[in-house]
Amino acid sequence: MGLLDRVKQSQTVPPVPGTDGAPTATLPGTASPYAAATAIPAAKPSAATAATAPAAPTLSQRAGASGGELTPAFTAAKVQIHAKLIEKFADQIDSSNKMGVREKIFELADEYFRATAMTMTKTDKERLVDSVLDDVLGLGPLEALLADPSITEIMANHPKQIYVEKSGEPTLSAVTFESERQMRQVIDRIVSLVGRRVDESTPICDARLKDGSRVNVVIPPIALKGPCLTIRKFSKDKWGPADIVNRFRTSSPEIMTFLRSCVRARMNVLVSGGTGSGKTTLLNILSTFIPETERLITCEDAAELQLQQPHWIQLESRPPNVEGKGAIPIRELVKSCLRMRPDRIIVGECRGGEALDMLQAMNTGHDGSMSTIHANNPKECLVRLETLVLQAGQDLPSRAIRETIGSAIHLIVQQSRLRGGVRRIVSVAEIVGIKDGEVQYQELFTFKQVGVSAEGKAVGFHTATGLLPMRMEHLRSEGEDVPEQLFKPAQQPAPDKLY
Ligand SMILES: Nc1ncnc2c1ncn2[C@@H]1O[C@H](COP(=O)(O)OP(=O)(O)OP(=O)(O)O)[C@@H](O)[C@H]1O
Ligand SMILES: [Mg+2]
Repeated sequence: MGLLDRVKQSQTVPPVPGTDGAPTATLPGTASPYAAATAIPAAKPSAATAATAPAAPTLSQRAGASGGELTPAFTAAKVQIHAKLIEKFADQIDSSNKMGVREKIFELADEYFRATAMTMTKTDKERLVDSVLDDVLGLGPLEALLADPSITEIMANHPKQIYVEKSGEPTLSAVTFESERQMRQVIDRIVSLVGRRVDESTPICDARLKDGSRVNVVIPPIALKGPCLTIRKFSKDKWGPADIVNRFRTSSPEIMTFLRSCVRARMNVLVSGGTGSGKTTLLNILSTFIPETERLITCEDAAELQLQQPHWIQLESRPPNVEGKGAIPIRELVKSCLRMRPDRIIVGECRGGEALDMLQAMNTGHDGSMSTIHANNPKECLVRLETLVLQAGQDLPSRAIRETIGSAIHLIVQQSRLRGGVRRIVSVAEIVGIKDGEVQYQELFTFKQVGVSAEGKAVGFHTATGLLPMRMEHLRSEGEDVPEQLFKPAQQPAPDKLY
């Protein structure tokens, strides 16, 4: 789509809600001994920094001091200013010069106010100008949601209904697209940026925004109510192990210490969980424990992983082109990276036959590899893995598949999104071998949910089960200091200490 077409995109201002854009509240009682006790460096930007210094204007800031209700006069002004911009400057608009375009819109707004004798507060004028700018160069109504740091996910079910996730909970946003046409234009703009396309013949598409946010698009005839868009916003505030332990209480200090040793001792780890439970986030965090000297290759459908190590190669699969040719599925990536001499392979998510290639890689000298998988508990995770291996179409007997799984996978970390949107590691299970043709595992840690808080959030505590890891010797031989104390079951804490 040419710039002129983009500029000409029809627009009016969607209603912008007067949401508070408040930073996520810090969890009570989060003072954890984790950082001090385990000496894992705290994640770079702290929660507090993120909360007090938002990088971009929040939705409420954008909505202006007057609260965000849009009048017909505001909408009319926007339409007129946009039209004038096309009429006067269409061939001079340089998309790389955002401030320059903004200045032009400002001038046109002044002209419009003079001609119509209209008055507007300074904040509303800024909002008007930003709104035109968003339509001309950006992603229209989505820009305000993308700029709000308290929003982590944007789910447009159809042009007139957009849900957003804040603090783990989905809520209906007052922002809507003006029309199906406007939403399709925004979608086309997003997918074309990564060289993809979406139309009736290929109505499903995965893409990425410039900032790394993951996008999924489904349009009619598959989506019955109109185009459907889901954006998992890329978190600028990079979370580290200390955030997961102290800020979100997703893991206990003991679990994180054990996982750090497992990753450093090159155990093969599978992060299992339901959709949006935080698997990719946890995989990113676990990857921070990998030594800097190792050569790492990540294979993903939509690149989301952000490794810190310098020796990192990032591969992304490719969908077929217009003629249905040229697809490079994730399986190909996993196979080909075996020839690239990696120390570890990290597969963003196993959802097909690549599971077999990954298991084989794990069994052939790429210890320390990791991936994520959709499953609700460790047992289901093993069943799902078996099903995925069958999808590789090699007609392997069940027994052979289970043996491969039993020797390739060492640890399953189960994460769940519990009531109220809280994410918890609910189980850490160690694979201990095969018995009677079944993969056996033992649970080392678990989360005991004991109730629901007044705010409707699940509360409980993490505890070890009392079992010692079978690979204790291995961990120690790799130089990991794993005190047996970590595996001592915890007493249920007092009600005010539950989380
Ligand atoms: N430990 C956590 N505590 C609170 N929120 C979290 C945590 N981990 C992830 N999130 C939030 O949950 C959302 C989903 O995270 P993530 O992408 O890691 O999930 P996922 O399980 O990989 O999802 P999918 O199944 O869609 O790939 C993100 O918006 C992230 O901000
Ligand atoms: Mg994921």
